[in-house]
Amino acid sequence: MDGIVTYSDTYTHVRCPVALYEQHTHHLLCPCHQSTFDLTQECKVIFGPAGHALPQLPITVNEEGFLVAQSDFHEPVGPAYWERG
Ligand code: FES
Repeated sequence: MDGIVTYSDTYTHVRCPVALYEQHTHHLLCPCHQSTFDLTQECKVIFGPAGHALPQLPITVNEEGFLVAQSDFHEPVGPAYWERG
């Protein structure tokens, strides 16, 4: 995995914040109900009750060398039971 990626830190089950990163597997784990997301697969859910992957925020480097968002999240942020468009 190269570069920098950004994802919503709100889990897609019942809104706990992302809290645990497993460096060797590149997995993010939720301490609330143990949903596990794989950073090498665009934060796809690989275990647990989360309804969908963590939304990714597209980023780039601007002319001054700062990381900036290219747009808003492409997917709604938050739990799957929240209103989704
Ligand atoms: S809120 Fe994270 S798995 Fe339930």
